[in-house]
Amino acid sequence: MTGPLHRTRRTSEISFPEFLDLGSTILRRQRVSDADAVFTRFLTFKTHRSVDEAVAFCALMEQRWDAGLEFTYAISEPEDASPYGAVSVRPDNFHVGFGYAMARDRWGRGHASRALKALVELALAQPGIWRAWAFCDAENPASARVMEKAGMIYEGRLRRWHVAPNVSPDPRDCLAYAKVR
Ligand SMILES: CC(C)(COP(=O)(O)OP(=O)(O)OC[C@H]1O[C@@H](n2cnc3c(N)ncnc32)[C@H](O)[C@@H]1OP(=O)(O)O)[C@@H](O)C(=O)NCCC(=O)NCCS
Repeated sequence: MTGPLHRTRRTSEISFPEFLDLGSTILRRQRVSDADAVFTRFLTFKTHRSVDEAVAFCALMEQRWDAGLEFTYAISEPEDASPYGAVSVRPDNFHVGFGYAMARDRWGRGHASRALKALVELALAQPGIWRAWAFCDAENPASARVMEKAGMIYEGRLRRWHVAPNVSPDPRDCLAYAKVR
C-alpha cells in the first residue's frame, strides 16, 4: 500500500505507516493523548486500574513503536477521531503477532476485521515477514471470526496457552490462526 494516506515511519527491520485510511475504519498511531479513551472505552486488562496506568501503558507503546518492537494503532471512525479500539502488531523474527480490542458499543461494525486484514497484508508484504498470526480465547468466537475475516486460517488449539486475568487466573486454551506466504 502506498500513497499520501500512508505515512511510513521506518525502523531498522520492519516498518508500518502511522496512518491508514480503510474507508469506514481509520487507523492511526496510538499516542499517550489517547490514554483516557483507552482506559474508559476498551481497555480489557485487569492490571490497568486507573487512567495513570493507561497513560503509562500508552507511553510504553509509544517507546515500543519508536524501537520497532510493537506497532499500536488507535482505531476510529472517519467522522470522529476519538479512538474506539486498538490493534497492535508485534514483530518477532520472521513472523508478526497481533492483538486487538474494540469498545463494546462499536462491536459488529467490521472495524476489527478491516484493521486486522489491512495489517496482515502490510506485514506479509515486507520482505522479512513470512507469517502473520494471532490467537484468541477458545471461548471467544467473535475474535476467531475476526481472524477468519482477515484471511487467516485456523491452525489448532493451544492448550493452556494464555492467562485472561478478567476471566480466570489459570492459563486457558486458545485458538491459533495464521496467514503465511
Ligand atoms: C473481538 C472484537 C475485537 C471484535 O471486534 P468487532 O469490531 O466487533 O469485529 P468485526 O465487526 O470486525 O467482526 C466480528 C465478527 O464476529 C461475529 N460474531 C460476533 N459475536 C459472535 C459470536 N458470539 N459467535 C460467532 N460469531 C460472532 C460477528 O457477527 C462478525 O462476523 P460477521 O461479519 O461474519 O457477521 C471485539 O468483540 C472485542 O473487542 N472483544 C473484547 C476484546 C477481545 O476479545 N479481543 C480479542 C482478543 S484475542
